[in-house]
Amino acid sequence: MSASQAHLWSGPVGQSWVRNALAYDTILEPLGRAALDRLDLGPPQRVLDIGCGTGTMTLDEADAENVEFLTLDVESEPLPGPFDAAFSRMGVMFFDRPEAAFSAVRAALEPGGRLAFVCFAAPAANPFITVPTGAALARLGGAPVPPPGAPGPFSFADPDRVRSVLETAGFQSVEVNPGPDEVTLGPADRLEQLARQALEQNPQAMMAMAANPDARDSAVAAAAAALGEHVTDGEVRLGAGTWVVEARAPGA
Ligand SMILES: C[S@@+](CC[C@H](N)C(=O)[O-])C[C@H]1O[C@@H](n2cnc3c(N)ncnc32)[C@H](O)[C@@H]1O
Repeated sequence: MSASQAHLWSGPVGQSWVRNALAYDTILEPLGRAALDRLDLGPPQRVLDIGCGTGTMTLDEADAENVEFLTLDVESEPLPGPFDAAFSRMGVMFFDRPEAAFSAVRAALEPGGRLAFVCFAAPAANPFITVPTGAALARLGGAPVPPPGAPGPFSFADPDRVRSVLETAGFQSVEVNPGPDEVTLGPADRLEQLARQALEQNPQAMMAMAANPDARDSAVAAAAAALGEHVTDGEVRLGAGTWVVEARAPGA
């Protein structure tokens, strides 16, 4: 993990994910579920949840039994194992060296062990991110998304890159399929709160707000106004393009 990603996830972005855990878990639940369902977890299995964040999905997978949380960098520190399966909800797009990270995951799986994760498709397919962050960044300054392929929410937007990274890491039978395509952010009478949550969820917006605190309130107001354009039946709903990715470790 680069120093900048470590700073984000062990610092302001990580803290905002903890602070807003209930809201983010509600918004992202169907996205994680789409990947978890692909694993079709049956009788007790050993499952690795990569980049588990506050661990809500982890506890769900485990039915609250026999869970161990480890703080480690998947790219550079040894993983325990072996695992029957590996899963992630939006936790695998922030690696500097994704091939190294996924090699470690593959090596931690039993032969034939399965991988399933959900990640974001292109920015244009994700107005739930780009609408509030774009409006805010127009006030704050700063790049709305990192360059293509760079660590960040959209680093796996290109399915060919996903396939290439996983195959280089030794995975087989890689499949990339469209996942859920819409999220509900919450009730339209709480636009400012929803805007603040959306901005705090996003590394680019968080960095821009930290760099320009005087413009923070105006950025939140701009994001709230932009979200107000996307109300259906009293709820703020926007497109959320995702890929559900599946692969297998060789053997068995
Ligand atoms: C967008 S959050 C997703 C959290 C959680 N999976 C969820 O859906 O709520 C990304 C997570 O990936 C973790 N992460 C990023 N890079 C990592 C790395 N190199 N090793 C381990 N975890 C990493 C972050 O600490 C953070 O918990």
